[in-house]
Amino acid sequence: MFLAERHRSRSFRVIQKIGVLVSGTGSLLDAMIQDGLPISLVVADRPCRGLEIAYRAHIPIRLVDRRRYGYTNGGLDFDRSGFTEQITRELLEHGVNLVAMAGFMTIFSPSIFRHFKRRILNSHPSLLPAFKGEKAVADALAAGVAETGTTIHIATEQLDEGPILAQERVAILEGDTVATLHERIKQVERPLYPRTIRDFSTKF
Ligand code: GRF
Repeated sequence: MFLAERHRSRSFRVIQKIGVLVSGTGSLLDAMIQDGLPISLVVADRPCRGLEIAYRAHIPIRLVDRRRYGYTNGGLDFDRSGFTEQITRELLEHGVNLVAMAGFMTIFSPSIFRHFKRRILNSHPSLLPAFKGEKAVADALAAGVAETGTTIHIATEQLDEGPILAQERVAILEGDTVATLHERIKQVERPLYPRTIRDFSTKF
């Protein structure tokens, strides 16, 4: 057995069922699929390419559209609890024991963090604690810093907080736009996130 295969089968004994949450293009999800991670379910909060990627890979998908829970611009009157409970139900019904947010763009109510205590991971495109929030790449550019990067961490009720599992730096180049910089960050995230999930799973 090749070393990589041995590594994979050892990890598989530990992480059995991953649920991936997406909202966008799903390139991190795609990297997880290519890596061979055992993904049991992909959930999206809106119609998006991530769902199509999962569908083509024959992974069960669920769309829990936040607009059905009253989400409009900014989500002020949004039924966050109902939305969170529905996603939690879907994950539990599919036997998920590890949740990976991969570009998921809705903030949950606290209940899901009780069901999946220390079992929800997130990838954020900055070197946390710097530049939290959904404009992390634009904020790093605007701040004029020389480098930013990515952080894989255990997600908690507090946005973009929680124990850090891995970080990698990315230099900001002259002429970078949000799009070029974010793409270079994602190039780092695509191998780092699956690797971190495997390492994390051996510590279950
Ligand atoms: C990644 O940069 C991730 O850190 C952030 O959203 C992006 C997801 O990209 N939370 P994609 O939708 O997987 O291409």
